[in-house]
Amino acid sequence: MSFADDLKTSHTGHAEASHAPSRAESLLAGSLRPDFPIFRQRVRGKELIYLDSAASAQKPQVVLDTLHRFYAEGYANIHRGVYRLSEEATHIYEGTREKVRRFIGARETREIVFVRGTTEAINLLAHSFGRGVLDLGEGDEILITEMEHHSNIVPWQLLCEETGSKLVVAPMDDRGQLDLDAFAGLMGPRTKLVSVIHVSNAMGTVNPVKEMIRLAHERELPIIVDGAQAAPHVPVDVQDLDCDFYVFSGHKLYGPTGIGILYGRSELLQQMPPYQGGGDMIRSVTFEKTSYAPPPGRFEAGTPDIAGAIGLGSAIYYIESIGFDAIIEHERRLTAYGEQVLGEVPGLKMIGTAEEKVGVFSFVIDGVHPHDLGTILDGEGICIRAGHHCAQPVMEHFCVPATARASVGIYNTESDLDALAAGLRKCKELFGA
Ligand code: ALA
Repeated sequence: MSFADDLKTSHTGHAEASHAPSRAESLLAGSLRPDFPIFRQRVRGKELIYLDSAASAQKPQVVLDTLHRFYAEGYANIHRGVYRLSEEATHIYEGTREKVRRFIGARETREIVFVRGTTEAINLLAHSFGRGVLDLGEGDEILITEMEHHSNIVPWQLLCEETGSKLVVAPMDDRGQLDLDAFAGLMGPRTKLVSVIHVSNAMGTVNPVKEMIRLAHERELPIIVDGAQAAPHVPVDVQDLDCDFYVFSGHKLYGPTGIGILYGRSELLQQMPPYQGGGDMIRSVTFEKTSYAPPPGRFEAGTPDIAGAIGLGSAIYYIESIGFDAIIEHERRLTAYGEQVLGEVPGLKMIGTAEEKVGVFSFVIDGVHPHDLGTILDGEGICIRAGHHCAQPVMEHFCVPATARASVGIYNTESDLDALAAGLRKCKELFGA
């Protein structure tokens, strides 16, 4: 079967159905690791234990095969050629848009914009929706939360600097949970936009976004949801959530880097001016005047990351072949287990203990700097992230400069968390802490 035909099958959804039970069963039995070639290697003679999926997830073979086969057998630019390769590449790229639409429950494919990632999506929104539609002025307000990633802070600060508007921040409690009453109370007559994180990258907190969206809409406010950390862990249905914009990255969803999704309600995308100018985003160009293509093309200037988008389609295919029921069950089990074994490490303090959270364990250990923890664990073949996780206000809330963070994905098992706990005990011994 040709590459294009293979991909067509997986775009229709038939292939997913035939794989569904076996992959879900493999996941629950803790054996999805063979799908990920990176785990074939050994690190300093030890098994690779990857606990940094919140930073970026590893890629299953099916995604790698898609990238390879697309470049080797199906590659051409899209939307431009009248020859078969280009037409097929266009078909697959646009088929992926449909696949993403289905994955997040959007009404129409034109509501799906391919971008580089979550950060670019929010910058696009700040530029095009913030500057182009909202008409912000002196004293207007943009409401965010205390647990935002820098990518949902800085683009709005840049906009505030230009327009004289200001950021208003809804607080969280000492478990890292949003104060929903305060959030609701902070939406006032000057609020023009709400932009919130679905799942905190620094703590794993799952925010009650459906309720937050309802509260914003009650006040007729547009709301953006940063779903970078949510999309790999929970099913997202943008119609059920009723959000105006939802953004996420491919690389955290077991797909390639350099590709992400901006979902926007069609009537809002239509009102938005272009973000970048160039080829493929126009209807017609003269030196006097250019008219723009309708969304989503209006927001996809230049040759996009075609392979990235198609690779993301395969990652979605892979995730759907497992199913979120199994993913959630697996990750709930790991989260509970992780809380337990890490809780038994003497001197370990967990940062972020929300009732609703995904498998992100952010912690500090008395007497050992998080960077030292990361370095020593690396010697054991264990990958975690240490630092402020691009969420410095979260660190400030907990009065720490940094944390160590272990985060799970579908390839992790309880034994990875046992190895982490043992590694942390070793760190404490080494530091005499
Ligand atoms: N935002 C990513 C993280 O949390 C990179 O690590």
